[in-house]
Amino acid sequence: MISKNTIDTVFETARVEEVIGDFVQLKRAGSNLKGLSPFSNEKSPSFMVSPVKQIWKDFSSGKGGNSVAFLMEHEHFSYPEAIRYLANKYNIEIEETEQTDQDKEQANEKESMYLVSEFAQKYFHTTMLTTDVGQAIGYSYFKERGFTGDTIKKFGLGYSPEIWDAFTKEALGKGYKEEFLDKTGLTIIKEDGRHIDRFRGRVMFPIQSMSGRVLGFGGRILGNDKKAAKYLNSPESDIYHKSKVLYGIYYAKQAIAKQDNCYLVEGYTDVIQMHQAGVENVVSSSGTALTPDQIRLINRLTKNITVLFDGDAAGLRASIRGIDLILEEGMNVKVCTFPEGEDPDSFAKKSTHDELVEYLDTNAKDFIQFKASLLVDEAKNDPVKKAGLIRDMVTSIAKIPDRIQREVYIQECARIMDISEQVLASTLAQLLQKDIADTGKKQKEQQKAQAMQPVNEGTQQPRQTINIQDALERKIIEILLLYGSTEQDFEDVYIKYDEFGKEYEETERKTVKVYERIYLNLQEDEIEFTNPVFKDLYKAIVDHYLTHQELSVDTFLNTLPSELQFVATDVYMQDEKYYLHEWEEKKQIPVKEKSMAVATYTTEHIIDLRWLLLGKLIQDLKLQVSPEADNMEILMNVKDYNMLINYLSRKISRIRSSFY
Ligand code: CTP
Ligand code: MN
Repeated sequence: MISKNTIDTVFETARVEEVIGDFVQLKRAGSNLKGLSPFSNEKSPSFMVSPVKQIWKDFSSGKGGNSVAFLMEHEHFSYPEAIRYLANKYNIEIEETEQTDQDKEQANEKESMYLVSEFAQKYFHTTMLTTDVGQAIGYSYFKERGFTGDTIKKFGLGYSPEIWDAFTKEALGKGYKEEFLDKTGLTIIKEDGRHIDRFRGRVMFPIQSMSGRVLGFGGRILGNDKKAAKYLNSPESDIYHKSKVLYGIYYAKQAIAKQDNCYLVEGYTDVIQMHQAGVENVVSSSGTALTPDQIRLINRLTKNITVLFDGDAAGLRASIRGIDLILEEGMNVKVCTFPEGEDPDSFAKKSTHDELVEYLDTNAKDFIQFKASLLVDEAKNDPVKKAGLIRDMVTSIAKIPDRIQREVYIQECARIMDISEQVLASTLAQLLQKDIADTGKKQKEQQKAQAMQPVNEGTQQPRQTINIQDALERKIIEILLLYGSTEQDFEDVYIKYDEFGKEYEETERKTVKVYERIYLNLQEDEIEFTNPVFKDLYKAIVDHYLTHQELSVDTFLNTLPSELQFVATDVYMQDEKYYLHEWEEKKQIPVKEKSMAVATYTTEHIIDLRWLLLGKLIQDLKLQVSPEADNMEILMNVKDYNMLINYLSRKISRIRSSFY
C-alpha cells in the first residue's frame, strides 16, 4: 500500500488546475478557471476549476471533486492509480507502508507477473516488426486483414515465432524467472523440465486492463487449420481473470464515456477493425457471454450498451438470452445485426467511417422490441409457443430495475405481439412476486413491490414534499460544510410552569459550534435523512467534525467516496454557479446574500426539517393503527410528536416574525 505520508505529500503538492490543465484547456475567469466539459460535447464552457478551493465542478454532468476525483473520472483510474499518477507527475517518491512478508511476496509476485507480461508484449511486437520471419509471416497476416501499421502499433500486436522455446529463452536470458513465465502461462513446463512457448507460431493480441497494463494474450493461428484451436488464450492467473476483463477497454474508455454508449462485439478483430474505422467506443467479451463483472466495468462508463451480432441467424436465439443479465444491471440495451455473412470486422473493413456510423445508427434497435419481433415471427400461429413467448418476454422485462421503463416496455410488447397489456402486466406481477420470494434482499423487495403499483396511482407522499425535504437536507449539509466549525449564539426556549401551573417560556442563550447544534438537535428526535446520498454525506461530515472538531475542504473531500464528493463539491461550488451564469449571459445577476445571521439561518432550517420529518413519522405511525390491536403506545407516540410539532411551529413563527 502507498503510505499515508506519500498520499499527504501528493495532495499538498498537486494543483488541481495543473492536473486538469493536462487534459482540458482552461481559461481564467475571475478567481476561477473555466473550460469545455471533458465529459460531454458542449459548445459553451460549463466546466469550472477553483484554484483557491482546489476543486473542480462540471455543471453539465454534475460531477466534481478534487484532482484525484478528476483523474478517477476522466482517466478511469482507481484511487491508488490516481495517486501514483500524481506522484509521478510531481516527482514524488512513493513510499510503501510496512507490509508483512506475505503481503510483500504476494505484491511482488503479481508485479513480477505484470512485468514478464509486459516484456512478452514488447518481445512479440518487436519480433514481428524487426525480424524477417516476423515481417513475412506476422506483419503480412495483419496487413492482409486490413490493419494499418498505426493500428498494429496502437494495439501492440505481435508475432510469436514458430520455434519451441524462442520466447522463453529470451525471457530467461533477460533475467525473468521461470516461476512467473509458468504462472502467466507464457511458458509451458513439461515434466522433464523442458520449456515450450505456449503461443509459438501465432499472431498475438495483448489483453490490457482498464489502466493499460498487459494482463494476458490471445494468440491466433495463421491459417485455417480446422484441427487446431483458432485462438489460444492465456490461462486464468493472479493477474488475468477472464471474466473481469474486456478486450479493448483501455482504448475505448474515453470514447465510451464521451459517446455515452458502448458497442459490444465478439472478437479481437472486430474491436480493432471498428477502431480503425473511427468508432472507438467498442469492446469485446472475447467470444463468451458477458459476465456481471464485465457489465459493471462498462457501467462505470455508461448506462447504454449496444450489442453487435454477426449476420448468422443460428447463434442469435442463444445469444439474446445472455442479454437479460445486462438488463438486470439496469443498463439500456440495444442490438444491431449485420447482413448475412458479415460480422463487425468484415463490415467495418469495407466501410468508411460515415457508412459504419450510419449503419449502426439506423440498425440499432431497442433490445426488448427486437426480441419481441424476433420471437413473434417464430410463434406466429402456434398458441402454445405464444404462451411460452409471453413468459420469455416478461422474464426479460422483469429484469429491468426501473419501474417506469418496465411499464413502457409492457405497452410496447403488447403492441408488437398483439396481446393485451393486462396479460403481460399480470404475468409480470407474478414473476416479480416470485422474485421477491426468491431473493431475500430487503432492498430489492421494496423496490419491486413498489414497482407493481401502477405508475399513475401516486404514492402516499406528494411529490412536492419530497422535493422540499431534499432541499432541506441539502441545506443542512451546506450549513455544516460552510459554517460547521464556527461558534454561534443560539437561543433555546424552554417551556416551564410557574407555581400556579401556568406555562411560561424561558430563553437561554448558548454559544456552541454549529455542527454540535445540528447534530444534537437532529439526534433529539432520532430522525434520519431520507435521501440516501445526503444521509451518507451527513454521517461522514458529522463523523469528521466529531473526530477533528473542524473541517477543511480539501482534506475532507479526500476521505469521501466519489459519489459523495460530487454532492459535497456541488454544495461548495454553488456560489461559482452564479458567477458562471454571469459570464455566460454577460449580465449582472445578484448573488444571493447570506446576510442572515448564521445561527438564525441554521435554526430555521433545522426546525423546518424536523417539522417535516416529524410529520412523516406521525403519518407512518397512524398507518400502523389497526382495529384489532391495542394501539395505546402508538397513539401516545403520535401525541408526543404532535406536541413537539406544535412547539416547533411556535418557535418557527417567532423566528420568522423577528426576522422578516
Ligand atoms: N475465441 C476464442 N477461442 C476460440 C475461438 C474464439 O477465445 N477457439 C474468442 C476470441 O476472442 C475471438 C472471439 O472468440 O476473437 C470470436 O470468435 P470468432 O468469431 O471465431 O473469431 P473472430 O474474432 O471472428 O476471428 P477471426 O476473424 O480472426 O477469424
Ligand atoms: Mn471474424
